[in-house]
Amino acid sequence: MKVIDPPSRDDRPLWDVWLATFNFPVLTVADEIGLFTLLAKQALSPTEIAEQLKIGARATEGILGVLTSLGFVLQHDGQFLLTELSRNYLLPESPYYWGGLLRNIHDSLPTHESIRDAALKDYYHDAESPWDSGEIPQARAERLTRHMHAHSMPAAMGVARWGNFTGVKRLLDVAGGSGCFPIALAMRYPHMRFTVLELAPVVALAKQYIADYGMQDRIDTLVANMFRDPFPSGYDAVFFSNIYHDWKREECLRLTRSSFDALPSGGHIYIHEMLLDDTKDRPISTMGYAIQMLVGTQGKQYSAAEIRAMLTECGFDSITVTPTFSYFTLIRATKP
Ligand SMILES: C[S@@+](CC[C@H](N)C(=O)[O-])C[C@H]1O[C@@H](n2cnc3c(N)ncnc32)[C@H](O)[C@@H]1O
Repeated sequence: MKVIDPPSRDDRPLWDVWLATFNFPVLTVADEIGLFTLLAKQALSPTEIAEQLKIGARATEGILGVLTSLGFVLQHDGQFLLTELSRNYLLPESPYYWGGLLRNIHDSLPTHESIRDAALKDYYHDAESPWDSGEIPQARAERLTRHMHAHSMPAAMGVARWGNFTGVKRLLDVAGGSGCFPIALAMRYPHMRFTVLELAPVVALAKQYIADYGMQDRIDTLVANMFRDPFPSGYDAVFFSNIYHDWKREECLRLTRSSFDALPSGGHIYIHEMLLDDTKDRPISTMGYAIQMLVGTQGKQYSAAEIRAMLTECGFDSITVTPTFSYFTLIRATKP
């Protein structure tokens, strides 16, 4: 007979890692079937929710249980109602609705194969990507821009609130996507003017977002390829959000040098990213984003120290690091 000792600790972390994989699809299904919109009007019992959404009682119990545990709904007196979290981010009428992101990625979640292949090939996107050449189909640009708008609009409000834009009059938002950062900054700083530099298919969409906010007179657009075209002059700030994490260090250095060349003395570069701690093992969600970048881009999530080193190498100084919103941080540096 073989006798073994009990485990020296419990295996909860393994259960947690496995079973957390169900959380995201539960959220995207709840969004797709209209659960949050239904509960926005009134609190309902599980039986009423099942009837109105035409889903089974067992599924209703499971979905509501997961969403309650995660803080998206709460339970009171046998009825379910929305939390502040859901009211902000899961109602289509909210300016911060995450629907564009949820719908873009619900059918392309990471798999064992995608992570294994990326690990074995490392920079497997080494061949020229359509983003280098700027040749992206309109439908793909539209999906990505709706995704990025949902992804970035809440943080854009944090950048406008907490970032230091003292003295900045004209800001160039390089690869600015929907234009959400200039939109948020324009609300807070009435004297500022902005240009969103983007690839042609995205500029068409940015113009719509800018028009939705009635800001056409303060925010214009420029069709350009950030790697192939020189940055325009006449700006006292160059801004990048979620751009460095898409690219290798050498490409990030190219963007930093282009900014330095385009800026006047005293001008600022801003880099807004989800940063890793300098130990590069935290926070866990930013680590997850690093894996997403590994699978889908040539980049990675950087630490503040890594970005600071790039800025210094290109001649910038007076570097400041400011938390803005949720996991995001804004780095600002000045051309001497
Ligand atoms: C991750 S998104 C960031 C969008 C926005 N800055 C934000 O934070 O929400 C990357 C953006 O880079 C743009 N982009 C990619 N390659 C580009 C290039 N070569 N020139 C200009 N823009 C480019 C894409 O169109 C896309 O909008």
